[in-house]
Amino acid sequence: MAAEKELLTLDVIGPGAICRNAHFPGMTLLEDRVRLRAFCDTNRERLEKAGREFHVDELYNSVEELLAAHPDGAVLNTTPTAEHAWTTIACLDAGRDVLCEKPIAMTLEEADAMLEAAKRNNRILQLGLLSRFAPCWQKIKSLIDAGEIGDVMSITMTQYWNQTTLYSDWRTKTAVSGGGIIADSAVHWIDIMRWLLGEMTELTAIGAAAPDSPKQDVDDTAMVLFHFKGGQIGTLRNSWRHMRPSNEAETVEIYGTKGTIIGNLQTPWINGGIQHVRLVQPGETKVYTYQNPKERYANQLNTFFDLVESRDCASASGPDGRRALEIQLAIYEAMAKRTWVNV
Ligand SMILES: NC(=O)c1ccc[n+]([C@@H]2O[C@H](COP(=O)([O-])OP(=O)(O)OC[C@H]3O[C@@H](n4cnc5c(N)ncnc54)[C@H](O)[C@@H]3O)[C@@H](O)[C@H]2O)c1
Repeated sequence: MAAEKELLTLDVIGPGAICRNAHFPGMTLLEDRVRLRAFCDTNRERLEKAGREFHVDELYNSVEELLAAHPDGAVLNTTPTAEHAWTTIACLDAGRDVLCEKPIAMTLEEADAMLEAAKRNNRILQLGLLSRFAPCWQKIKSLIDAGEIGDVMSITMTQYWNQTTLYSDWRTKTAVSGGGIIADSAVHWIDIMRWLLGEMTELTAIGAAAPDSPKQDVDDTAMVLFHFKGGQIGTLRNSWRHMRPSNEAETVEIYGTKGTIIGNLQTPWINGGIQHVRLVQPGETKVYTYQNPKERYANQLNTFFDLVESRDCASASGPDGRRALEIQLAIYEAMAKRTWVNV
């Protein structure tokens, strides 16, 4: 009888909302590959709640305790942004591979220290650049790469949420989050635009806080204009405080010389996450529909586990996470100086 394949073990630092909404539902598709072993959270109440909810008995109050207990296994780091660098470096130095949530860190110096720690320990540092793993975005990329819309001339990406609940969260504390909607969400779209169209060269941006926001120094709405190296132009509109029908909360329009791609890519945990990609060509429109909210999270984790098993440190997305942060910081610079910034 063939021996059963050993499951990979995964420990989680900071098992909060993104784990509950995304990673753990995704993990239900990977039960034959991975098992949750331990949780670590500095908030005892949340730690115990997550342990009960996800049937994890090994609970630790600090990263140091977790690392002392286990020298092996992969780590998912879902702590708030200001905690990413030191906790990730501690794990990498302990010989652990890490999937760290976005944004990679607060500063480029922190990001560089994380990349350096991965290199000196020969460990995987993967970043939570989730959208690349969504089948709808993979379809869009394959249509562009196959020349279905010709040469891309422009991209317009919009993500409008209406989530005032975030105002009570660490996200509006700049010292913990690094900023508002741009730090929270735009990193995904920066990464996707680079993935689809290549590097950006220059940007400008404006941001604002809604009149009812308790924290007026945090951007809860932002608009960014980009130039790309290949000559394309792009816009990004992002908000925590703009109401739209849920099936239009995330949209993209990509205009090429021979056709257009229009995507309605609502956040997958809303209404089952039905996503439509339309390919518009002269005389014909094709529609591709996706509806599996768990799939992109499972794909993201699977790719991380593939890297862990193959020891392919060079293909891990740490550098893409650093580049997304670099562009995020340039957006804040452009907002503050009211100018164009080279990236
Ligand atoms: N990929 C995405 O689409 C996406 C979506 C939401 C959040 N995120 C990212 O995930 C991360 C977490 O966001 P969230 O909404 O789950 O936050 P959250 O506040 O719900 O959970 C974070 C948890 O980390 C714990 N924590 C804080 N410092 C810690 C430390 N030093 N050691 C151990 N635990 C610690 C907190 O007590 C909390 O329970 C952030 O980096 C965020 O940007 C990504």
